[in-house]
Amino acid sequence: MIRDLVHGFYGRVREDRTLGPIFDRVIGDHWDSHLAKLCDFWSSVMLATGRFQGRPMQAHNRIADIRPEHFGRWLALFGETAREVCPREAAALFVERATMIGRSLELGLAVSRGELPPLRRPA
Ligand code: HEM
Repeated sequence: MIRDLVHGFYGRVREDRTLGPIFDRVIGDHWDSHLAKLCDFWSSVMLATGRFQGRPMQAHNRIADIRPEHFGRWLALFGETAREVCPREAAALFVERATMIGRSLELGLAVSRGELPPLRRPA
């Protein structure tokens, strides 16, 4: 299910007018390894397999032209794909996790770009 979701989702991303050019530029000829990495990511998130060893915050930080509206588009395509590929409850769980992770990536990007103050930690 994870494989079908990840491959189906990035197929849509590549065809998308807004997201496609960003992904194609950054990923270039490395789609096979990107897809394998994202299958490991979702396996770790949903099944706690620990297969993913990456640094999502740093990976997104390197992409200077990601904008807040890209997160909405990303999540819309992800949700559409999840609802086609997965049973209803599983789709809802994927979307919930993606929304939470997307929100923290978006916040982290805004902080590292100086658009938001860093979160305060309790003294
Ligand atoms: C909204 C939720 C999102 C999730 C859950 C997510 C998840 C991920 C993960 C896990 C990786 C692999 C990171 C690593 O190599 O350590 C990744 C890479 C990447 N993401 Fe996202 N992402 C999201 C949103 C976006 C958006 C909005 C964009 C662009 C508009 C984007 C563009 C990319 C690109 C281009 C890479 C490859 C980076 C590289 O290989 O250097 N992502 N994403």
